[in-house]
Amino acid sequence: MQHLVDTDNFSDEQIAQLLHDAKRFKHKRPIQLLRDRLLITLFFEASTRTRSSFEVAAKKLGAAVVHLDPSRSSTKKGESLEDTFANLCAMDPDAVIIRHSDNHAPGMLADMHTTPVINAGAGNYAHPTQALLDLFTMIEHFNGNVKGKTIAIVGDIVSSRVASSGIRLFTRMGMHVVLVAPEQFMPESTLPQYKKLEDVIDNVDVIMSLRAQLERHEEELFEDYADYAAQYCISKERMQDRDILLLHPGPVMRNIDISDEMLEDPRCKVLTQVKNGVYMRMAILKLLLLDS
Ligand code: CP
Repeated sequence: MQHLVDTDNFSDEQIAQLLHDAKRFKHKRPIQLLRDRLLITLFFEASTRTRSSFEVAAKKLGAAVVHLDPSRSSTKKGESLEDTFANLCAMDPDAVIIRHSDNHAPGMLADMHTTPVINAGAGNYAHPTQALLDLFTMIEHFNGNVKGKTIAIVGDIVSSRVASSGIRLFTRMGMHVVLVAPEQFMPESTLPQYKKLEDVIDNVDVIMSLRAQLERHEEELFEDYADYAAQYCISKERMQDRDILLLHPGPVMRNIDISDEMLEDPRCKVLTQVKNGVYMRMAILKLLLLDS
């Protein structure tokens, strides 16, 4: 039984297989490889992209999906996460896809060894399917190879599970990762760190902008987000005509993370990331449910 808690659950060969399958699925809709399979989604935090992307991916492959809404479940009556999971597993799903605010929740459920667990985002620790779809988007853009490319991750890095998983995966793939953030948003890291994007922008191939995750801050870190945006918003003035791929996992805070104008710019691939997410999640479901 294979789980996806973070991308280190996959070997290099499996990551190569995922990239190959995602590309194949993008160009030709596959037969219903997962007909008669059943997935349960269990999202304890809000989601637009990840939940719907998993459902679309599963349905394109012929699988059925059942969603349990924790706000209307027996969690409200005090049932523990482990007991909720054990009860769902008793219904014999082929995998459970979970998002949770606790960094350790997917790993803890995986350790129960009852049903494959797929991490759809855990605290600020890991969001492996986002990292894999971002890798797929970059590999597609750079015609098959990202080794030696430099990505600047810009914004609220310390709160971001997208950054955590991305840093681990992108460095493993041979990319150079640099971090750009104000002190309040900078994690402890041995990676190169910059307070100003201007100090490194001429040396980067990719910028990944991140949302300021207000809901994870115990106290207000900035008095005024206009001050933050003045320094970190990815605007046309900041990008000029540089040949830089612009990514963001969403949801984008317009004119704080990325300007309206840059969101319309062909260098910005936010919706390509969303599209590629479906094909990458199809590849992940195939690998975990069929190939493992
Ligand atoms: N990128 C991402 O995880 O978006 P959602 O929170 O909408 O799923």
